Amino acid sequence: ASIVVICGGLSHERDVSLSSGHRVQGFLKEAGWKVETHDMDASLLDFLTNPSTRPDLVWPLLHGANGEDGSIRDILEMSNLPYIGSRAKASRTAWNKPVAKNIVRKAGIQTPHSVTLPESIFRELGAHQVVTLLVNSLGLPLFVKPSSGGSALGCSMVEDMDQLPQALINCFAYGHVALIEQAVTGIEVSVSVLEIDGQLQTLPPLEIWTPDGIYNYEARVSSGPTKFYIPARLSTDQLKAVRQAALTAHTALGLRDISRTDFIIDSNGVPQFLESNVAPGMTATSQLPQSAIAAGYSLSELYSSLVQSVLS
Ligand code: DAL
Ligand code: MG
Repeated sequence: ASIVVICGGLSHERDVSLSSGHRVQGFLKEAGWKVETHDMDASLLDFLTNPSTRPDLVWPLLHGANGEDGSIRDILEMSNLPYIGSRAKASRTAWNKPVAKNIVRKAGIQTPHSVTLPESIFRELGAHQVVTLLVNSLGLPLFVKPSSGGSALGCSMVEDMDQLPQALINCFAYGHVALIEQAVTGIEVSVSVLEIDGQLQTLPPLEIWTPDGIYNYEARVSSGPTKFYIPARLSTDQLKAVRQAALTAHTALGLRDISRTDFIIDSNGVPQFLESNVAPGMTATSQLPQSAIAAGYSLSELYSSLVQSVLS
């Protein structure tokens, strides 16, 4: 069977996606698959649908806008192309963090209290009034992020009221809606979920440790001082609870094949849902591959069994 990994794309996470895509291509090649990468450009649709180039399977590894918001998956569905990962509708749901938080909360998982703020309201009311309203309703510290986005772009921790306007302006550079959450102190943990041969499984929970407690873009794309602990330094019960919470989020959001859900484990040991990713990073420093290696998998065999499972 021939496989095409779509990577690159037109989002802020283009470079991360190229890195994820080429890594996955390498591991699949190692397992003997015929696999090419393709960018999301004007030739893509023709390439995917032309009988001489049409692949048997597509792995959409685009991160961020156009990649995780469902649009590329809509195209794959319309072209009747089998692909790895969540359907367009579920991707769109997970991509919208406020919507995803609501769905996952209704499924019984806690998530930080938050307010959603469109840029137009910020401009209309002005920084002073917005800051007062947000701090009155959520307190401090706060975490500001684009309501849809990835790789921590446009995200800031706000400890002091005075930092809030700048944090919002930075956020609006990446999207027109901000999600402002109460910043929960605790341990940042990612849990990857795989669905192979109809079996849902979690990889070992991965704890992210950074010197300043913030896993920003630079920390994600370089090996720097960030440390991963796999499994996360939690009690057996807490590890079990966070694995279960990742499965609950995956299922409640209607995700498929592969996802990674990020949490903060609060001071009571309770997992607080941050978001689920439908195209989790697959670079050399990303969480999913690190967790898989810690669990004893060969990435080549693991990705190969995912491909096999979707093809069969
Ligand atoms: N958005 C990046 C790629 C991640 O979630 O790993
Ligand atoms: Mg993300």
